[in-house]
This record gives sequence, C-alpha cells and structure tokens, in this order.
Amino acid sequence: MTPGDPGPGGARSRAVETAAARRAARLVRDAGQLRDGTPVRVRPLVTQDRALLVAGFKALSHRSRRARFLQGVSDAQFARMLPVLLDTVDQRAHVALVLYAAGGPIGVGRLRRFTGDPGAADLAVTVADDWQGRGAGSVLARELLARAGDLREIRTVVSADNHASLALLSRLGQLRSEGANGDCDVVVQLHRSPAASA
Ligand SMILES: CC(C)(COP(=O)(O)OP(=O)(O)OC[C@H]1O[C@@H](n2cnc3c(N)ncnc32)[C@H](O)[C@@H]1OP(=O)(O)O)[C@@H](O)C(=O)NCCC(=O)NCCS
Repeated sequence: MTPGDPGPGGARSRAVETAAARRAARLVRDAGQLRDGTPVRVRPLVTQDRALLVAGFKALSHRSRRARFLQGVSDAQFARMLPVLLDTVDQRAHVALVLYAAGGPIGVGRLRRFTGDPGAADLAVTVADDWQGRGAGSVLARELLARAGDLREIRTVVSADNHASLALLSRLGQLRSEGANGDCDVVVQLHRSPAASA
C-alpha cells in the first residue's frame, strides 16, 4: 500500500466522515443577519471539522491570533490544541458553533463551563478578519447563550486593548473587569431573558 492509499479502512473512515458531514449539514440553522443585512447560518461544530478549523486559523492575522489566545500562536502550536478544541466538544459542557455567511464559514464560537461551577463558563469567539466589525461575533455570542440557558455568568480573560471583545461581552450582561493594562479578568453576570426569569 502506498502512503497515499487509504486502503479498505481508509475508505470506511471516509464513508464515516462523509456521513458525519451530512449529519452536520442537516444541523445548519438560520441565525438572522449581520448589521448590513447579510444572512448568516449556524451549526454545531463536530469532530470532523478539523480541516475547517485549520484553514480558518491559517487565514487568521497575527493580530487576531494574539487577540484570541492572548499570545502569538503558530500553525504548529494550533495543531497541538486541536484535540481540546474538537474532541472535548459535547454541546453541553463545551458548546461550540460554526457561523456561515456567503456560502462559507466565517467564525467559530465556544462556551466552556467550569468544572465544579457549571453555571459559569469561558466564552471565546473568533471571526475571520474580513468579517470582523459587522456583527458576526455578536450573533455567535447570542447563539451560544441560547444553547446554554442555565448559565449564570461568563468568566474570561481579555486583552485590555481588545475593544471589540469587551464591547461584545458588555452587551451580554453586567461586566466587571480587573486590570487595565495587558490582560484583564472579566466577569459578566448575564442578563436573564423574561422566559428564563419567569
Ligand atoms: C472580538 C470579535 C470576536 C468580535 O466580533 P466582531 O464580529 O468583530 O464584533 P461585532 O461586529 O459583533 O461587534 C461587537 C461589538 O464590538 C464593537 N466593535 C467591533 N469592532 C470594533 C473595533 N474594532 N473597535 C471597537 N469596537 C468594536 C461593535 O460596535 C459592537 O459593539 P456594540 O454592540 O456596542 O455596537 C472579533 O473581532 C474577533 O474575532 N477578533 C479576533 C479574536 C478575538 O479577539 N476574540 C475574542 C477573544 S476570545
């Protein structure tokens, strides 16, 4: 067998992946529109999304990489994070979503509940550079929270100069932050919807 030859096992795993991709495609839902009226759609991230995450990260500017991970991250370092970013997603303790516009993925968002305090979670959103500032991050945050109705607060760390992230978080509830320079610890007490507080 040559290295490129998938063999019978490879054919089977390709079939499994194709079936999983079809299932993921069936989970795509309308998610409203961006500020300029561009319609967006959302679906859960699935373990077969490795190539999607890798391609999205490769295209991300160094500024956005640093804003997301609070430090420079190389492609190789990102590849080593993939088991955590993909395999721990269960859409309960670790909710992760992909946002689509104009026929392709434009962002990924995730909520990870803290072990021992599942009413609190870290929230991380990444929007492709060309799509930033148009409302995509806000849509992802809203969709994540809609899938985690019992969540009480967001606890996360944000670079103090990440004004978009701080603005996005402040829309979700009562924001407190500590640390003015470098990275700051942020806690957001979430607004409760009328249905949730009833
Ligand atoms: C942070 C990020 C997720 C925000 O998503 P986005 O789609 O660009 O933001 P939105 O268009 O939804 O805007 C969210 C808020 O930020 C404001 N905003 C957007 N871009 C901004 C900028 N460059 N400077 C200041 N405020 C900005 C918007 O006005 C909006 O606030 P408002 O609701 O009070 O009007 C996105 O910019 C991103 O992926 N950045 C790189 C990775 C990162 O920083 N992730 C967050 C840390 S985990």
